[in-house]
Amino acid sequence: MTKSSLEDFCEDIVGKAQRGLQLSDQVLADLADITISDLIKIKTGAFNEETVRKLAGPLFLGEEALVSAGNNAWAPRQQEPLEGLHSFTTDYHDMTVNAYLIWDPETSEAAAFDTGSKCDPILQFAEQKSLEIKQIFLTHSHGDHIQDLDKLKNSTNAKVYASDKEPVPGTELFAEGSTFKIGRLSVETMLTWGHSIGGMTFNILGLGSPIAIVGDSLFAGSMGGGRVSYPDALKNNREKILVLPDETIVCPGHGPQTTVAEEKQHNPFFPELNRQ
Ligand SMILES: [Fe+2]
Repeated sequence: MTKSSLEDFCEDIVGKAQRGLQLSDQVLADLADITISDLIKIKTGAFNEETVRKLAGPLFLGEEALVSAGNNAWAPRQQEPLEGLHSFTTDYHDMTVNAYLIWDPETSEAAAFDTGSKCDPILQFAEQKSLEIKQIFLTHSHGDHIQDLDKLKNSTNAKVYASDKEPVPGTELFAEGSTFKIGRLSVETMLTWGHSIGGMTFNILGLGSPIAIVGDSLFAGSMGGGRVSYPDALKNNREKILVLPDETIVCPGHGPQTTVAEEKQHNPFFPELNRQ
């Protein structure tokens, strides 16, 4: 896997942590004992290992994991195809966004998680596999994730569910702890807010591996920006997602799939979990 396949580079991670901690360039440079010019270089993509090592402590980031990100030395293992899970990556402005389809292979009942910028690939896949999309779950309401909701809803007549903390017009709201069924599969919901006010993670049990569809709460080797609350985004990832079984397949809203085990080892935002 190449550098470009990860959602965030070293400079993105440094920027998210700095903004999250509300540190000015001057304060951060002083804490790290580097110059502002050195800091700017890092934040504009010019990796320097010595500087990054000095930044890790004041930003509460894992030093080795951050250096590894700067050296493009790590990416999650490519997941084996799993019957019952498929991802759809669509373009949105200068980035890409992921949506997912989960289905019970026995009953062919399916649920979509977000829509991405275009839902046609989801509809085509469902038709090819003779899946019936009965439910649409939204991880959060940011435009890139729900851009094609009207079309997906109208094409499937599926019920649409959104977080009660982050309502979306035309949806049914659910609270953290709600459970759903997709055929024989079970879906449990966890509030993993911080990137958005009501961001939800869906834990799916009943396929070959447990699956967590996390929206922008957590990325492979990074996390969504803590736009609403960086401390709570960290806390929710730490206490709700990264305590799931190691083999749990993590399906983020951007970038590649990963696992809880790999994130505990390599995600620089959780240095207390990193085992290098
Ligand atoms: Fe988002």
